[in-house]
Amino acid sequence: MKELDWANLSFGYMRTDYNVRIYYRNGAWGELEVSSEEYLNLHMAATCLHYGQEAFEGLKAFRGKDGKVRIFRLEENAARLQSTCRGILMPELPTERFKEAVLKVVKLNERFIPPYETGASLYIRPLLIGTSAQVGVHPASEYLFVIFVTPVGPYFKGGFATNPYVIIREFDRAAPHGTGIYKVGGNYAASLRANKKAHDLGYSCEFYLDAKEKKYIDECGAANFFGIKDNTYITPLSTSILPSITNKSLMQLAEDMGMKVERRPVPEEELSTFEEAGACGTAAVISPIERIDDLENGKSYVISKDGKPGPVCTKLYNKLRGIQYGDEPDTYGWVTIVE
Ligand code: PLP
Ligand code: COI
Repeated sequence: MKELDWANLSFGYMRTDYNVRIYYRNGAWGELEVSSEEYLNLHMAATCLHYGQEAFEGLKAFRGKDGKVRIFRLEENAARLQSTCRGILMPELPTERFKEAVLKVVKLNERFIPPYETGASLYIRPLLIGTSAQVGVHPASEYLFVIFVTPVGPYFKGGFATNPYVIIREFDRAAPHGTGIYKVGGNYAASLRANKKAHDLGYSCEFYLDAKEKKYIDECGAANFFGIKDNTYITPLSTSILPSITNKSLMQLAEDMGMKVERRPVPEEELSTFEEAGACGTAAVISPIERIDDLENGKSYVISKDGKPGPVCTKLYNKLRGIQYGDEPDTYGWVTIVE
């Protein structure tokens, strides 16, 4: 294989050697299958195509200085996929099966796991879709679970650097009792216009307020929000945001650093009080926020006065990355080493 330009990878798709698949038929999950085919053979009346019976996940594998490969919190992704399945009436894939599939696909594509020094990682993308042919709106009887992997670099330009965000009031991503808490494709379709508008205006990403009152912070694009002030880590409590595994980890790390952690509704005006803030997620890791503009209200909340990541974001980022790459002790058993 031609040596990849690991250090300059973007967050994009690259063909790797294998993907893995498990079919659900006659009420049961089948054996794990290995494929090198990038395409799926789908019935045109499959429920995933018409009625959005589609769930996905995102997690990463990291190569350490010691050469070992570590996967971050994969049981949490299995649990979130199960929650999504309950949300859109798909059969739940047991955690052990999820784990078996993730380990297999990572091992099969070992040569695509970026070297330690590059700061890149292997993105793991599980997908679960309803496949049986149907016209009526009800759940499918057959499903396909697939995982592909692809080496990735930073999601936002510049990696660990501050970025500007913009509040988009015109389009909602998710309703208070809708599917925002699940990782279903429909949420991302609903986010495309807001995302495009933010990019067209020169921002890094769109920022959502709660859809009902437009008063509280929800999340930023495909990442959760957190703010820092008075030695406190503050992150929104909302029924329309995705429960981020990165955010959950950062809450623990913040507590370990002696900070208070608050999970509660965060009114927009509070943005003016934060000493630091960030967007966090598997793809985003921590992306420190420079400022958040609310164009319709004519407000600009400048968070990073000098345009640099703040000390708390930096400490959290280093600690999280340290655990992921194996440079820091894995106190909570978050990491699965690929043997
Ligand atoms: N919010 C949304 C809408 C996302 O798509 C993601 C990405 O998975 C996140 C938040 C961050 O979640 P996690 O930290 O589990 O990757
Ligand atoms: C992730 O952080 O894993 C995501 O899913 C973000 C995005 C690419 C949808």
